Amino acid sequence: MSRPVVVVGAGGHAKVVIATLRAAGRTVIGCAVRDRSEPTGHLLGVPLVAEDDLPAGAELLLGVGDNHLRQRLAGKLVGPWTSCVHPAATVAEGSVLGVGTLVCAGAVVQADARLGAHVIVNTCASVDHDCIVGDFVHVAPGARLAGDVTVELGALIGVGAAVAPKRRVGAWSIVGAGGTVVRDVPPSTTVVGVPARPITRRS
Ligand SMILES: CC(C)(COP(=O)(O)OP(=O)(O)OC[C@H]1O[C@@H](n2cnc3c(N)ncnc32)[C@H](O)[C@@H]1OP(=O)(O)O)[C@@H](O)C(=O)NCCC(=O)NCCS
Repeated sequence: MSRPVVVVGAGGHAKVVIATLRAAGRTVIGCAVRDRSEPTGHLLGVPLVAEDDLPAGAELLLGVGDNHLRQRLAGKLVGPWTSCVHPAATVAEGSVLGVGTLVCAGAVVQADARLGAHVIVNTCASVDHDCIVGDFVHVAPGARLAGDVTVELGALIGVGAAVAPKRRVGAWSIVGAGGTVVRDVPPSTTVVGVPARPITRRS
């Protein structure tokens, strides 16, 4: 019998996490927010609860899409953390999912892929054979990692982006929506376009 879950966060990604947990047969008993007073309100019928006063006996799953914020929350809250795979996702044999990792509806994780902690493989994203995906990475909806790709700590592979086989995306880098990576991306670099090239960001 699995334990009830508190989702940390109450924004758009938290809705996806709640729906994924419910589809996987889990019971969600709260959405944790930072509010120090008694929080009021619901998200998809789930009551908001204070991050500082979490219900005893529950497991936690991060419900925020921002990779830096997920890393901060994972360091601040003690867990215990749960992972979740949507029943309409495929996770192939030999693959490993780290603690707190979420695999959403329609996503595919292929054989011998290794995913770290608190990773998001979002709706209909794919992570192919032998990929290595670091902690706090987000593979956004519809993004695709070909075989033997390495994505380092905290990187974001944007909506619909693709990474060619054996390429490496450095820590905390961003591949912009729809971009195609054909050369390695250094750490802390934002790349966009086809083929993806670095840009200087305004924000
Ligand atoms: C790449 C990205 C991070 C840049 O964000 P930003 O810093 O706010 O972007 P800016 O507005 O400063 O854009 C800088 C330039 O890059 C261009 N650009 C931005 N994103 C682009 C993209 N995905 N593809 C091609 N060009 C892009 C802009 O048009 C702009 O060009 P200009 O100077 O000629 O006008 C963002 O556009 C993006 O693609 N994010 C992905 C988000 C995502 O998938 N999240 C997952 C949600 S589940």
